Amino acid sequence: MHRNQINEGGAKRRLHLFGFYVVATYAVIHRVPKKTTIKANKILTKIKKSKTVTYKVGLLGLGTVGTGVAKIFQDPAGRHPLLPDIEIARVGVRSLAKQRDVAIASTIVTDNLAAIVSDPEIDIVVEVIGGIEPAKSLILKAIANGKHIVTANKAVIARHGNEIFTAAKQKGVYVMLEAAACGGIPVIQALKQSLGGNRISELTGIVNGTTNYILSRMYFEGADFDATLAEAQQLGYAEADPTADVDGYDAADKMAILASLAFGDRVKLEDIYREGIRSITSADIGYAKELGFTIKLLGIARRTDSKNDINLEIRVHPTLIPIQHPLANIHGVTNAVRIEGDPIGEVVFSGPGAGAGATASAVVADIINVVAALKSMPNQVNQLMGCSHEHYAKIAPIENTVTQFYARLLTHDKPGVIGDLGTAFGKHCVSLNAILQKNTSHDGLAEIVVVTQRVSEYNFQQAIATIRELNTLHSIPTVLRVL
Ligand SMILES: NC(=O)c1ccc[n+]([C@@H]2O[C@H](COP(=O)([O-])OP(=O)(O)OC[C@H]3O[C@@H](n4cnc5c(N)ncnc54)[C@H](OP(=O)(O)O)[C@@H]3O)[C@@H](O)[C@H]2O)c1
Repeated sequence: MHRNQINEGGAKRRLHLFGFYVVATYAVIHRVPKKTTIKANKILTKIKKSKTVTYKVGLLGLGTVGTGVAKIFQDPAGRHPLLPDIEIARVGVRSLAKQRDVAIASTIVTDNLAAIVSDPEIDIVVEVIGGIEPAKSLILKAIANGKHIVTANKAVIARHGNEIFTAAKQKGVYVMLEAAACGGIPVIQALKQSLGGNRISELTGIVNGTTNYILSRMYFEGADFDATLAEAQQLGYAEADPTADVDGYDAADKMAILASLAFGDRVKLEDIYREGIRSITSADIGYAKELGFTIKLLGIARRTDSKNDINLEIRVHPTLIPIQHPLANIHGVTNAVRIEGDPIGEVVFSGPGAGAGATASAVVADIINVVAALKSMPNQVNQLMGCSHEHYAKIAPIENTVTQFYARLLTHDKPGVIGDLGTAFGKHCVSLNAILQKNTSHDGLAEIVVVTQRVSEYNFQQAIATIRELNTLHSIPTVLRVL
C-alpha cells in the first residue's frame, strides 16, 4: 500500500524521527542542484523502507472537529508513538478563503473533495464535514477506491450505515466511527472489543449534551424550557435550529449506532420510537424532584424475550430517573452510557460528548487503530474492527413497552375527581404508585400528578383515552415514562 515517493510533508516529519542526518538530507533536497536531490531521495527511500512507513490521511472538513484533529497531529509529543507515522496529506473544505484556526499549508488544502477520495496516495479518509450529502457519496467513493474511513458523522451512519458497511466489507476496508456517538467517550471500542465476552441486555444513555444541559439548568434553577434553550443557543451549546437536539433526532441517530453494536443487529432509524423535550415544564421538573426523580432525555435499548421474532426494544424520550440512579447525576453537556451485560453486570461510561478536543480524541484514536491494524496485518481485516452485522433487529412496537408512567393532569376542582381518575385507570389495569394533588391553579383548576406502577404502554394509553373523556378533566399537559 505504501509508496516510494517522498513528499515534502513526509520528509519534514522524518526530521524529528531521524535527527540531524535527515535534517541535512531534507536541506539537500530543497536547496541543492537536481543531481544531489536524486541521491538524497535514494537515501530517504532507503530509510523509509527500513524504518517507517507513512500513512496518509485525507481530511474532509476543517471545522470544529477537523481543526481539533489537525492540532493533535501538529503536536504529537507525549501521545501515541504511531502518530508521527501518520500524515495529514490533504485537507478538503468548502471555502478556501475562510480564516482557519490551525496552520495548514495552503498547498494541501482544496475545495475539490472528490479529488481527495480518488487520490491514490491517500490511505485513510477522515470525514468530518457532517450532514448526508456530499458526505455519503464521498465515503462510498473513498471505499470504492480502497480507502479506510474514519467518520464522526452519526447522521450518515445511522441512515446509510447499511450501504456503507456492505461496501466496506466487500472492499475489505475499515469504517471507524468512535466519534459518531458520545464524542470523546470510548464506548464504541468498548462495545466492539472490551465487552465482547458479554451478552448485553441493556444499554441506556444520555447521548445528547444539548438537551442534558437544558434539563440540568431547569432542574437546578427551576428555569423554563424556552428561556433555557435561548441561553443554550447564546452560549453555543444549542444550534440556531435546535430541532435535531431537542426533538431527539440526534439521540436516535446515536442510539441506532450504539444498539447495533451492543446487540449485533443493524437498526433502522425509523424503528426507533422518539420524543423530544419541548413539553417538559418547570412544573414537571418540580414534581419529579418532589417524587425523588430527575428528568433526562434517555436513549433506552433492551434485548427482549424474542416473542414473534421481536428481539429489541429501543426508544428515545424524556424519562424520570430515580435520583440514586447512576445517570441521574450526569449534568450539563456531559454524556453517559450505562451498559448491562452478562457476566460483567453494570458498567457506566461518562465524559464529554462533543467539542473539538473530545471529538478529535476519538477520531485520532480511530486513525491510530487503523494504522496499527494495517501495520500488523496489512492483508487481512481485523475482526475486532470490522462490521459483521448483516441482519436487522426486529424492534418491538412502543405499545409493547412495559414501564412506569408519570402524568400531570389539570382537572376542574370538583369533588370526586380523584375517584373518577382511579376508576379510569383501574378499568385498564393501571395501578397507581403515587398521587399528588395541588389545588394551586388560578382558573379553579387542580393539578394532579400520578406515577403508575409498571404497566404496558398500550394499557396506559387506553386509560389516558378514557380519562380524556371525563367531564372533570381540563387537560393532560404532560405524560412521561419512568425508568
Ligand atoms: N462539533 C462537535 O462537537 C461534534 C461532536 C461529535 C460529532 N460531530 C460530527 O462531526 C462532523 C463535523 O462536525 P463539525 O462540528 O466539525 O462541523 P463544522 O464545524 O460545521 O465543520 C464542517 C467542515 O466541513 C466542511 N464542509 C461542509 N460541507 C462541505 C461541502 N459540501 N464541501 C466541502 N466541505 C464542506 C466545512 O468547510 P468550511 O470550513 O470551508 O465551511 C468545514 O470545514 C459532523 O458529522 C458532526 O455531527 C461533531
